[in-house]
Amino acid sequence: MNTSCIIRGMGHCVPETVLTNADFERMVETNDEWIVSRTGIRERHVALNGETCVDLCHEASVKALAHAGIAADELTHVLVATFSADAVIPSAACMLSHRLGISGRMAMDLSAACSGFLYALETARALLLLHPEAKILVASCDIVSSRVDYTNRTTCVLFGDGAGAVVLTADSPELRGGRVLDVLVASDGAMGDLLTIKGGGSGTPYKLGETIRSDFFVEMNGREVYKHAVRAMSGVCQELMTRHGYTCADVDVFIPHQANLRIVEAVGKRLNMPEEKVFTNLQKYGNTSAASVPLALSEAVAENVIKPGSLVLMGTFGGGFTWGSALVRF
Ligand code: UT7
Repeated sequence: MNTSCIIRGMGHCVPETVLTNADFERMVETNDEWIVSRTGIRERHVALNGETCVDLCHEASVKALAHAGIAADELTHVLVATFSADAVIPSAACMLSHRLGISGRMAMDLSAACSGFLYALETARALLLLHPEAKILVASCDIVSSRVDYTNRTTCVLFGDGAGAVVLTADSPELRGGRVLDVLVASDGAMGDLLTIKGGGSGTPYKLGETIRSDFFVEMNGREVYKHAVRAMSGVCQELMTRHGYTCADVDVFIPHQANLRIVEAVGKRLNMPEEKVFTNLQKYGNTSAASVPLALSEAVAENVIKPGSLVLMGTFGGGFTWGSALVRF
């Protein structure tokens, strides 16, 4: 649906500590060759210095607000996409609002795993229909390392931590930024068990004194997730392009979820997307879950890969399963 929504500013950040593939060779039975050939990942930033979801959201948000030229106290809504908020209560959005020195606004967390950013973008578009004067902050962050078992080689090499944030307002001709042309998000709970973090949820509670079990951490059927990720991400991106009469020839930059280079390549192939249009930074950051797409978007803008006039296609896939796509004209 055509709505009036423009990305006025964006920012991103990652924690300081870097874990390289060589570091993992010392931690588990793995090697650089396996990790690079199966995933493309060479290093990832992890919050080993105690950085939290709200810390990273705050840094990315301050940058996004500065980029937008909008003051924190002008914000009307604060949305945070995450599965790894600092606490169960209060929400990361309430904590972030407080950190930004604002109160009295709607502040809400959304949980859609790696698709969180596009779910939040769709929610923000709906809010802008109700409140055309709104100035909405969307921060998207995961501290995946807080739920990674660093003795499990099949998952620990894949993930990193990070945050990306955007400031959104209704569009008007004189504004500069990324015009959100459309967003399409979807889910299928039937496949939920293929990628989970169950332990600590109300369905798998821990009692006082119990030691945590492996279900506290990310558990995944990698091969199945891989197949569904390729199918769903390419399908939803194609559907959104077709809806607007676009083909890959019209797209200038494709930003897929940065989970795994092989998934990205397979999606690109299915879409017939020329390789040079596909932006990746997963080599440096690994899979940062909800941060993945906005971190790549913000970096692509900062590196001038996305220029005024660029048509940007985004695609994502994550636990739930959830998936989605967005088209933005800069
Ligand atoms: O946001 C969505 C989140 N999830 C994803 O995007 C992940 C999707 N899945 C994948 O990217 C891939 O399935 C993985 C990268 C996770 C795994 O690649 P794969 O080619 O599917 O490998 P596999 O799981 O089938 O494992 C092949 C072998 C196994 O050994 P055996 O049983 O053949 O002897 C694994 O034990 O590779 C072994 N293996 C490793 N070896 C070295 C698994 N992890 C590692 C490792 N280092 N880190």
